Amino acid sequence: MSSLDDFSDILKADVPLADLTWLKVGGPAQYLAEPRSQEELQALVTCCHEQDLPVRLLGGGSNLLVRDDGVSGVVLSLSAPCFSEVTAEDDIVRAGGGALLSNLISESVKVGLAGLEVLAGIPGTVGGALHGNAGGRGGDIGQFVKSVTVLTAKGEIFTRKEDELSFAYRKSSVNELVILNAEFQLQTDNADDITQRIRKIWIMKRSTQPLSHQSAGCIFKNPRGLSAGALIEQAGLKGTQVGGAEISDRHANFIVTNEKATADDVLRLIELIQAKVSDRFGVDLELEINIW
Ligand code: EPU
Repeated sequence: MSSLDDFSDILKADVPLADLTWLKVGGPAQYLAEPRSQEELQALVTCCHEQDLPVRLLGGGSNLLVRDDGVSGVVLSLSAPCFSEVTAEDDIVRAGGGALLSNLISESVKVGLAGLEVLAGIPGTVGGALHGNAGGRGGDIGQFVKSVTVLTAKGEIFTRKEDELSFAYRKSSVNELVILNAEFQLQTDNADDITQRIRKIWIMKRSTQPLSHQSAGCIFKNPRGLSAGALIEQAGLKGTQVGGAEISDRHANFIVTNEKATADDVLRLIELIQAKVSDRFGVDLELEINIW
């Protein structure tokens, strides 16, 4: 049986996570691990399983709130280049789970493959996008998936094909510990036309979302047939602050943080929103972001 000591080259203890998240709040990880290869990642995950140590995967940190106490156990970061390769062949693009979604989109555009541009402007990694079936008005990532290769919390690797996967609004059946890579089926198109569509999405996002602020994107999922942002605005909450966290004036489903904010400020603001929207409209807002 291996022990964590065998991984001292890639493990750091007591690592602050705030700067690795978009909200820039929250405490440290007991250990942060940056494996250099898939084999090393698999060996570490197997070791943690054998030792009964909690393991979490850090994606791009854009949809994540870390509590001020931080997290015990190991936080994995797929920052090594081997986890973020993007390659294209015919109409299939293959991407590592650690690749930025924006990189997957730009590589697809370069080779004249269309589809994923509807995801332009969504931050985070390919793995994170698949895990939460990231999307927007134009569609979501799940509709383009051919196959996904995962690593389970027990250290097993397997591939699931599209007919074994299911995706719904901000929900996916891919819930294993790590998404190692995925294949996407796209359509050939003119690169200039795809770029034009991306520009339009950016213009729309910039005019409706607080993109230049620290935020985690939308905090809540849209309730069926409704808009969380509109409900929060109609509850009169735009601009409401708790400590260094504030409901965005531009889009009420965004919480923006300043340099004095704590995770507790954000959590209290989330609870306040949920209570007010429930009182006023009888709607329970469900979180879109992950909380550690
Ligand atoms: N609205 C308000 N007040 C607000 C915000 C929105 O009245 O403060 C209204 C808008 O005027 C519009 C409606 O609510 O009539 C919908 O707003 P918007 O078009 O901004 O879309 P959304 O449903 O709030 C969704 C995704 C976004 C994605 C956009 C564009 C969710 C929870 N949000 O937002 O995704 O960027 O569509 O495709 O599904 C994210 O998930 O993190 C995210 C930002």
